[in-house]
Amino acid sequence: MWDLLTWIDASPMAEEIRISLWLFPTLEIAHVAAIAVVLGSIARVDLRLAGLVSRDRAISEISHEMLPWTWAGFVLATTFGALLFVGQPIRYVEVVFFDAKIMLILLAGLNMLQGDRPLGPRGDATTPSAARRRSLLRVLDQRRHLRPVHRLRLN
Ligand code: HEM
Repeated sequence: MWDLLTWIDASPMAEEIRISLWLFPTLEIAHVAAIAVVLGSIARVDLRLAGLVSRDRAISEISHEMLPWTWAGFVLATTFGALLFVGQPIRYVEVVFFDAKIMLILLAGLNMLQGDRPLGPRGDATTPSAARRRSLLRVLDQRRHLRPVHRLRLN
């Protein structure tokens, strides 16, 4: 493991990422843009599950439409993240939060693989109840924080 990290650290690519003025920031921009695609595509499905957008369209249709974007964003974020990592692999591995981040990303990837299934026979017509409850809870939780503002406006 350390041999591999030392080899990566000494590679010409790592050297280039370290010394170049524009390479690291460009990779970081690409990393964050890909993350935005992941979060945006998931948010659209969540909002449809909560019944807040595109109510005239089937959930399975929206989910099917967004899934390639989620996967593409995830693969790109991982690729650009790996390139950022190449610049200073030993330094990153020694940061416990970075190790935790990688473990969580692995879990997220597994979760996406597990969730990448059809919604079932009722998926086209209705919201699967457990998924709907989860997304509704999220929305209700946000509304709980918003309520005082809402009341102020009414008065
Ligand atoms: C798809 C899931 C991922 C998310 C949500 C994520 C999130 C982030 C965020 C928010 C930043 C900070 C960006 C900034 O400073 O503007 C970042 C930076 C970084 N990420 Fe990721 N990341 C992901 C995947 C990965 C992977 C798989 C790797 C490595 C294999 C990685 C390596 C890095 C590195 C090295 C940095 C730069 C840290 C620094 O500023 O020195 N990321 N990531």
